[in-house]
Amino acid sequence: MKIQLKDKKLKDIDAQLEIVFVVNRDFEDLFVRDAKELKKLNFKAEQDSTALIVGSDRIYVGVDDLKSYNLRTAAAKAIKAIQLTTYSTLKVASYINEDETSIEAMVEGFILGAYRFERYKSEKSKNVIESITFSTQSFNAQTLDIQKAKEAIAKAHVVATSTNFTRDIVNTTPDDCYPEVLADIATHLAKEQGLECNVLKPNEIKEQKMEALLAVARASRHKPRVIHLMHKPKNPKAVVSLVGKGLTYDSGGLSLKPSEHMVTMKADKSGGSAVLGIMRAVAILKLPIEVHGFVGAVENMIGGDAYKPDDVLVSKNGKTIEVRNTDAEGRLVLADVLAYAQQEVKADYLYDMATLTGACVVGVGEYTIGIMSNDSKASQTIVEVGHEVSGELVTKLDFNRYLKATLKSNIADICNISNTRYGGAITAGLFLSEFIDENHKNKWVHLDIAGPSFVEHEWGENPAGASGAGVRLIVATLEHLAR
Ligand code: BES
Ligand code: ZN
Ligand code: ZN
Repeated sequence: MKIQLKDKKLKDIDAQLEIVFVVNRDFEDLFVRDAKELKKLNFKAEQDSTALIVGSDRIYVGVDDLKSYNLRTAAAKAIKAIQLTTYSTLKVASYINEDETSIEAMVEGFILGAYRFERYKSEKSKNVIESITFSTQSFNAQTLDIQKAKEAIAKAHVVATSTNFTRDIVNTTPDDCYPEVLADIATHLAKEQGLECNVLKPNEIKEQKMEALLAVARASRHKPRVIHLMHKPKNPKAVVSLVGKGLTYDSGGLSLKPSEHMVTMKADKSGGSAVLGIMRAVAILKLPIEVHGFVGAVENMIGGDAYKPDDVLVSKNGKTIEVRNTDAEGRLVLADVLAYAQQEVKADYLYDMATLTGACVVGVGEYTIGIMSNDSKASQTIVEVGHEVSGELVTKLDFNRYLKATLKSNIADICNISNTRYGGAITAGLFLSEFIDENHKNKWVHLDIAGPSFVEHEWGENPAGASGAGVRLIVATLEHLAR
């Protein structure tokens, strides 16, 4: 899909179909060219509603206002509707909004909305949108800064295609995407985009004393990998480490998941897959900050060699962990990879992303990322970027000492589950905090993406299945830090 900007009036741009965004508040008094037809279709310009007028080759899309999160989802809905037709060249005005984010939001919406995962379909869908041309005409008094708009298109293209890159990995089945494959994807990405890459295989993981990660991996025929991707520009403005949970499958282990909870657990690699997507974007955008992406790639299975409830594991940082539930495996993998990341890189910011708990989904709903940290300023940055830039839903969850106490173990330093059924997202975050060293204490933020990373129906700009949760959010956060 080619996306371009032309310094021409909309009517002078050659395309098969025109996309018209309509703000519903002004709709009634507005002069709309296809008023009669729209009336027949009972089109009220409600947010995300569309009406295709074949006679005039226009599609109308409703929005509440021109805020970027509204334009983004509306653009996604429009493109989905267009994909059902045979129109393939499109044009649209630039609809400049207050903070001049309209083009970026529309480009993201178009690319994210057009995404389809068809690897396992015998019949692939036919309509591929060839091109979308933006006109400098904006339908309001403001004039467009052409150079800025072109940069916005290029940037949005990178961010959205990187999100789709992450979606592809997450949607791939556990039989086709196991730790070695995840490492191959990383290696390939590094070659393609000029990143440095180091992959630890089991022997090296053992040398690094990541015994908690190795225990989780033990019963799988697919051996684990620890991936380290590096983006190292000259004179970086900051150093950031990202750590992702890459459980290519989470059966629960011996604390086996009931069947209805096991389906979708191919998506337990969403955090690691998001880290890969972010590294792709960072490399193409050449962000002036040093970024390290770490992924713990592991499969959690059952078998004679499986780790067990009652085991005590010695993690990389020396702390001992009493295993009481083998399904709380993500935090074991992350404990070791977080320790490794801190050993390898002294970072100014340390972010981990994980589909860590069902409790987070219960607590904040399936569309929202839960954000935790020791330092409210560190997490606030990400929350604000979510609200103001990326449009992803985020909310803070606060730590407290009473929940911390629920992780005490009688026989080891800490237990891998808490002794209460409440506050599971927070107790999981508190478990991770035990593996953050003094230097990184206030630089670390944990993102629980268990809800939004994989939803089995369409929502907003996302399709059914993997959403690429966290990619836009963290790329925007990194850009913010680079400023
Ligand atoms: N991968 C799951 C968390 C999860 C649940 C992600 C639903 C996406 C959707 C994680 O490894 C897990 O099983 N967590 C347990 C923790 C419990 C044993 C303390 C959970 O949430 O039930
Ligand atoms: Zn689990
Ligand atoms: Zn898991």
